Amino acid sequence: MKKPGSHVSSKKAGRMPKGGAPNARGSAGPGGRLDPEIERWFATAGVAFPSSRSSIIPMLQAAQAALGYLPRDAMRAIARHLVVPPALVEGVASFYAQFRFNKPGRHRVTVCTGTACYVRGSGKLLDDIQADLEIGSGETTADGAVSLESVSCFGACALAPVVVLDDKVLRQQTSESMKKVVQDISSGPSKGRSRGMRSSPAASPGARGARK
Ligand code: FES
Repeated sequence: MKKPGSHVSSKKAGRMPKGGAPNARGSAGPGGRLDPEIERWFATAGVAFPSSRSSIIPMLQAAQAALGYLPRDAMRAIARHLVVPPALVEGVASFYAQFRFNKPGRHRVTVCTGTACYVRGSGKLLDDIQADLEIGSGETTADGAVSLESVSCFGACALAPVVVLDDKVLRQQTSESMKKVVQDISSGPSKGRSRGMRSSPAASPGARGARK
């Protein structure tokens, strides 16, 4: 059996945050209190999960769907509910590329580096986007505006090279077109500032995507 987390680099998956030793409630926060947002999620949704190991992945998925990522305290709350070691929950989470451990940016740019996209220049495209944003794949800009990721294939190879901005598929992107996209989302406070970009609703982002 593979060692959990052995196939996903910490950079690509989002580094597991460093934290102090958990207190009795599994929280590193003052007074043992969870972050209110985590507390709210746990009280309204988390407690409904059966207290068994088979709930680990469903709970992680539910927590990420509600919180946008997996804070360490959320994983510890899950471990406490399931009466398992926190390291087990964190190990399972780090094994799967679907989970992220850093708060996502307001916008998410995902570059496909699968074969069809790569032969059409997505490698250089990703390099140029990284240079423009001054971050690497799997990272978020310091101002929290943009998170950058790469995937192996969106299942939209005919549109290569493909980039997905939030939920919008951008077809046949170039370094020049993505420079405009990056400028637009870096300067705007909200999502949806994607005027003038070629997009296709036909593709299904993430259908075959796996974080690399
Ligand atoms: S290789 Fe990029 S969408 Fe398939």
